Amino acid sequence: MKDQPIGIFDSGVGGLTVAHAIKQILPGESLIYFGDTAHLPYGDKSAESIRYYSKRITEFLLEHNSKVILIACNSASASAFDSLKKEFENKALILDVIDPVVNYLSTRNFKKIGVIGTKRTISSGTYEKKINEKSPLTQVISLATPLLVPMIEEGFIFDDISNAIIRTYLSNETLDGIQALILGCTHYPIIKNQISKIFNFNVEVVDSARIVSMILRDVLDKNNLINDSGNVRDQFFISDYTTYFEKIARMFFEGEINLKKADIWN
Ligand code: DGL
Repeated sequence: MKDQPIGIFDSGVGGLTVAHAIKQILPGESLIYFGDTAHLPYGDKSAESIRYYSKRITEFLLEHNSKVILIACNSASASAFDSLKKEFENKALILDVIDPVVNYLSTRNFKKIGVIGTKRTISSGTYEKKINEKSPLTQVISLATPLLVPMIEEGFIFDDISNAIIRTYLSNETLDGIQALILGCTHYPIIKNQISKIFNFNVEVVDSARIVSMILRDVLDKNNLINDSGNVRDQFFISDYTTYFEKIARMFFEGEINLKKADIWN
């Protein structure tokens, strides 16, 4: 069990931000990553479609012996975490990216928090609901920012186009006075610096990558599943080939990336 890989999935490159943080905190673990590029973006899809995709991807990751399934996507965490847990909890540990962030925020006593994410994540109300369950007095302002994922997947990151889009979204006056901003999409840490800059670095910009990796380490430890074999092998799968995926993957994981197309939808 211990040397089995950690299965991670997202609609595209976003989950690589989480995979990268896991590698830093748990370098002895093997990863198997699935980017469902054929169905990107998830944020515009219905909860039912996302549950269907998530189920099949989880089966694929389990067929490849994953000891943990980490849903490295907020849209899928909001739509499919409960159903995946129900169906697969007896086969592997199932983790999402929303609960660890909510638990972290409950220790910080913020009065006003902003959350940005895809249309699916924001319309689900998951962050607001879960934060207010733990901290009823915290005001949560949710804002859908649907152009950010296609922008990032198309490689517009450090240029005039991305700066204009980010500034337009974040100058929304409902966000005035926030003390923290949750990046409620795993793609967004790629533009975290530009986002922090809009708020003159005065707002705590919270992304799930590191927080989730530390929870993963605790969970593996508690279940006696830390890989101490010294054998590490990372695999990356996508459901449709995009050159940009490979480029970003190389940015996060220097050197050779073992990228394969998996035809799980045929
Ligand atoms: N990175 C994902 C998320 O955290 C999915 C974004 C998308 O495909 O729309 O929501």
